[in-house]
Amino acid sequence: MTTLIIGSGLVGSQVARILVEQGERPILMDNAAQPASIGEIVDSQRTTLIEGDILRPYTLSKAIVDHKITGIVHTAAHPMLTLGAQRDPYAAIQLNIMGTVNVLEAARVHGVKRVVVSSSSVLNHYLVAGDGSHDPMKEEGFPRPSTFYAATKQAVESIGLNYARYCGIEFAGLRYGAVFGPWSGHGGGGPSNVMREAVRAAIAGEEAILPSGGMEWVYSKDAATGTVQALQTKTIETGIFNVTMGTLATPEDMANALRTVVPGAKVRNQTPQASSVSMMNMSRASDLSRAKRVIGFTPHYDMVTGLRDLVEWMKLRAKNVR
Ligand SMILES: NC(=O)c1ccc[n+]([C@@H]2O[C@H](COP(=O)([O-])OP(=O)(O)OC[C@H]3O[C@@H](n4cnc5c(N)ncnc54)[C@H](O)[C@@H]3O)[C@@H](O)[C@H]2O)c1
Repeated sequence: MTTLIIGSGLVGSQVARILVEQGERPILMDNAAQPASIGEIVDSQRTTLIEGDILRPYTLSKAIVDHKITGIVHTAAHPMLTLGAQRDPYAAIQLNIMGTVNVLEAARVHGVKRVVVSSSSVLNHYLVAGDGSHDPMKEEGFPRPSTFYAATKQAVESIGLNYARYCGIEFAGLRYGAVFGPWSGHGGGGPSNVMREAVRAAIAGEEAILPSGGMEWVYSKDAATGTVQALQTKTIETGIFNVTMGTLATPEDMANALRTVVPGAKVRNQTPQASSVSMMNMSRASDLSRAKRVIGFTPHYDMVTGLRDLVEWMKLRAKNVR
């Protein structure tokens, strides 16, 4: 059993850590890996890091053949996710959609059975219009994704499900909530970076800025746990699963959680203008029942325990790099 993890950032590095803890030696593939940051999450001696670009199908084929890959976790995405796709839609569409098609096609050609792909809970929140009829005979029977990023994720899910239907691939698309967690490199999306900066500021005694609207989060270690469960569960009944905390965090919840883990923290709830498109005011939490039933996913971390783990990691890191 050898897993190819494509994308070695905030989530991919945690997936590698779990597989290493299980005794596997996963292959991490990235076109712009950050080895020092990866090494802070997973023992680099126990992984193989290779250079590869999902927009160059040959590198995918070579990785699968060279390393006798039996399963794929695909976490690569256009940088800065929603924000990046709004700035450069064409590049995001190329990478998120065609990159994923290349991964699925390589899996089909080389007979890799299971492919787990990162989708996003933006598909639960970033929807507009729809006439509410849920009638496919009506042009506007269903709402549509309201950002380029969400539109790419919707395409990825639909394409993956059709690879499963027609090409013998077992496909899981995981709708992560906004991810935060240990990571010192660049990457993640707007919310990941806002949360990381807020925690840094709180520890440093500076004012921490947290979102001013409701948010649905997932801690990166839980996102990775759900991913490994989707990779390893015996049968994938259907392909799309919510992987979030399963609760909606109000601005007060976020502020109180940060004050709980960093007593005395000065917190202000104000969504930074530059990130606002990636932090809409969410009003409901995703339903985790299918993820629990089919892949066995239940979040281990809530707002407080996730932030506590992150604060501990940041403090330890600061001591080690001093
Ligand atoms: N971070 C979040 O809040 C969040 C929320 C929901 C879904 N997701 C999804 O989860 C996945 C992982 O997100 P993340 O936060 O770990 O992102 P990240 O930016 O930390 O990691 C993505 C990695 O993909 C690599 N990559 C980019 N283009 C590549 C290419 N052409 N070939 C190979 N590698 C390439 C990057 O170098 C980076 O290391 C993404 O698909 C993202 O859309 C993330």
